[in-house]
Amino acid sequence: MIDTLKKHIGEVEKFEADSPEAVEAFRIKYLSKKGLLNDFFAEFKNVPNDRKKEFGQTINQLKTLAAEKVDSLKEALESKGAEQPIYGDLTRPGEPIPLGARHPISIVKNQIIEIFSRIGFNVSEGPEIEDDWHNFTALNLPEHHPARDMQDTFFVQTDPDILLRTHTSTVQVRYMENNKPPIRTISPGRVYRNEAISSRSHCFFHQVEGLYIDTDVSFADLKQTLQFFTDELFGKSKIRLRPSYFPFTEPSAEVDVYWGLETETDYRMTKGTGWLEIMGCGMVDPNVLDNCGIDSEKYSGFAFGMGIDRIALLLHQIPDIRLLSENDVRFLEQFRSAL
Ligand code: DAH
Repeated sequence: MIDTLKKHIGEVEKFEADSPEAVEAFRIKYLSKKGLLNDFFAEFKNVPNDRKKEFGQTINQLKTLAAEKVDSLKEALESKGAEQPIYGDLTRPGEPIPLGARHPISIVKNQIIEIFSRIGFNVSEGPEIEDDWHNFTALNLPEHHPARDMQDTFFVQTDPDILLRTHTSTVQVRYMENNKPPIRTISPGRVYRNEAISSRSHCFFHQVEGLYIDTDVSFADLKQTLQFFTDELFGKSKIRLRPSYFPFTEPSAEVDVYWGLETETDYRMTKGTGWLEIMGCGMVDPNVLDNCGIDSEKYSGFAFGMGIDRIALLLHQIPDIRLLSENDVRFLEQFRSAL
């Protein structure tokens, strides 16, 4: 009997397993309720008294060995399992993951957001499909107002009240309807106009609207804000404000930045003047404040709306606005940005 035990001890010591199933089968064979060890323990009573001690020691040795074997095999398999996902030749050079590119419009948009966020402006958005109220009427452009023709509008044919927004000034209206002053917000987005397409104009393009409403806001605040912005975006820059007309601001101005004339793209985008018209702006007309539920006796403010496509064309020296929407990867992959 003791010899049988010793034979098993030898087998247990030698046993190796390469799968969890094999370890489990081994455990069942020796250590389970119906396993060999229980059989041997059951034999104990039949062992002559003078051999009981030796038998007991040997059987305990077998039990400890078998239990240790199960533990060590399990551990070995588990750590092997953790390494398993590594297949193939580890000395091969890694495959480079290509870095994505950001669209030039997004790069410039993110720069603009970053600059204004430094002086307390948040970001707001509105829908591209709008109604007449938000695109025109609330902005002091009632029905039949001649200035409605300043922007050729795409209407949804079945409903003249629904249109593709012609400017992001719609978001001013929505923001004022839903928020109380003080307000400092910029609203980037795509806008649509039924215009002839050329190298410098498209029937859809991008704007960033700005709105600042508080007590005692003056035109000087507007001018300083815009000078700060253009200095940050273009480097120290010369700007000029030309008196202009927008129904939603009074007084109104258009802002030009001096860009210079070095390349053909500079000539094309500035129409040979070196000046780039970047935005319209002004003091928000009291009618607009009242239309949007803001007390025009108490509050005043300024607004501006800038086009970002032409800025992107100049900053990145892109000669044709149509390149921005052609989705040619050979063009798109040239742009890299941390923003
Ligand atoms: N919405 C005007 C446009 O698209 C730009 C503009 C002018 C926006 C004056 C303003 C503003 O907020 O005050 O031509």
